[in-house]
Amino acid sequence: MDAGVDECINDEPVNRFTESAGLKAAAQGLADAGQAPALTPAPTPGPSPITRLPSRPAPARPDTALHDACALAASADSIEALRAALEQFDGCGLKKTATNLVFGDGNPQARIVFIGEGPGAEEDRQGLPFVGPSGKLLDKMLASIGLDRTQVYIANTVFWRPPGNRTPTMGETVLCMPFVERLMELIDPEFLVTLGGPAAKAMLAETAGVGRLRGKWFSYATPKLSRPIPATPMFHPAYLLRSPAHKREAWADLLMVRDRLAGG
Ligand code: URA
Repeated sequence: MDAGVDECINDEPVNRFTESAGLKAAAQGLADAGQAPALTPAPTPGPSPITRLPSRPAPARPDTALHDACALAASADSIEALRAALEQFDGCGLKKTATNLVFGDGNPQARIVFIGEGPGAEEDRQGLPFVGPSGKLLDKMLASIGLDRTQVYIANTVFWRPPGNRTPTMGETVLCMPFVERLMELIDPEFLVTLGGPAAKAMLAETAGVGRLRGKWFSYATPKLSRPIPATPMFHPAYLLRSPAHKREAWADLLMVRDRLAGG
């Protein structure tokens, strides 16, 4: 934890100290026998066994990956087909470090969609968005205006957890965006709420802080949506957990959303 490691990636822990102790013992044994220890770099040119990296498949070129993302997303004519398309898609690097695809949760016929930034550790474990501490607050926020997950749809700008909960890069977001757009087209909601700055930037191309954007309505459009969808940015629940003083503004925003849903 002190070194910044907060996730085990393998199913089973590997004790690297035992491995290096074994190598040292082998080297010592050879040295005692008068031979050069195996760890001494070979005089011949070429990489030593220790510096050679395991071979990996070459990463997809970003332009090919974006082309694949657009083609796969466009071919999906249902939410299930879109999830299957994402499961096939290997172009986004986040997939390599994530445990699960975090596709979305809620009612695909919902009138309102909430889009967050990206899955965290608990979401990665369960394969569902907003199920960790900020998800619990989001559920309370929804309940405060009479909503629950049977009446809304919840997803993120990226579908796999960024390692260490960092903000998704522009490249990762761009590669996931064709799938997010298709998700919006398939649900075709009446309203969109973005949660946090990165979601407002990715969905609405608004770069100002949420403090300046909140309380206002913007438009979300894609070529295949029949009409632009009214969209409003809100503070991310994780931010509200860190800065509870802003819950007052979030409450005002929720009331604004409730009024719009009620036809006001
Ligand atoms: N934060 C997000 O932005 N999305 C989640 O799904 C969880 C935490």
